[in-house]
Amino acid sequence: MTFQGLFISFEGIDGAGKSTHIDALAQAFRSQGRAVTLTREPGGTPLAEKLRVLVLNDAMDAMTEALLVFAARRDHLQQLIEPALARGDVVLCDRFTDATFAYQGGGRGFDLKILSFLEQTVQFIRGPEADLIRSPDLTLWFDLAAETAAQRLAGARSPDKFEAEPVEFFRRVSEGYRQRMAACPGRFARIEADQTREAVWLDVLQAVQAKGWLA
Ligand code: TYD
Repeated sequence: MTFQGLFISFEGIDGAGKSTHIDALAQAFRSQGRAVTLTREPGGTPLAEKLRVLVLNDAMDAMTEALLVFAARRDHLQQLIEPALARGDVVLCDRFTDATFAYQGGGRGFDLKILSFLEQTVQFIRGPEADLIRSPDLTLWFDLAAETAAQRLAGARSPDKFEAEPVEFFRRVSEGYRQRMAACPGRFARIEADQTREAVWLDVLQAVQAKGWLA
């Protein structure tokens, strides 16, 4: 049986609690016979993982940050995501371009027009039949108040550069996600993340079932 590739991204501010659900969704797809590629951004390839270490730890201006995450994304698309989709895999990606609009655009205030230009350029894929701008088929946005996320993160582990940002930064990041969803409502499912883990999982499952991708 051959499947059409599926690209699902997971988004939200740090502390929103997306990670466990990515693994659970991978299991759900595998139990229905689908091959799953689990990956993340920045990262997913040896080169992109090196860039991740820089982005998460080194001080730099917003443009440098944006260029590095898009450089990582280009390598990730070419080396991992496109081949996986061509095989018919379900690609589950922990963050993608919406994170750049939310963190570098919303959080850091970097120019959204430049981010859009980079998105159109970096994600341009020449297809056998038609060219396209690769973006997720579905984005699960785990929406949690910045204050609640900060409480969840407090004392959890040693914070990286972003996790160390103040709560106002994450309010702007949330607003960045909200704007991305408003611009593209059909691609997004907003998951109310301030619920028990079980309730969040049911919402995740429902969002994917609503697309007809899981029984
Ligand atoms: P995250 O996905 O939260 O991983 P972990 O669970 O290991 O902390 O960390 C990635 C961080 O990178 C997160 O704080 C958001 C940030 N980020 C950007 O600023 N821009 C981007 O384009 C991406 C993909 C991530």
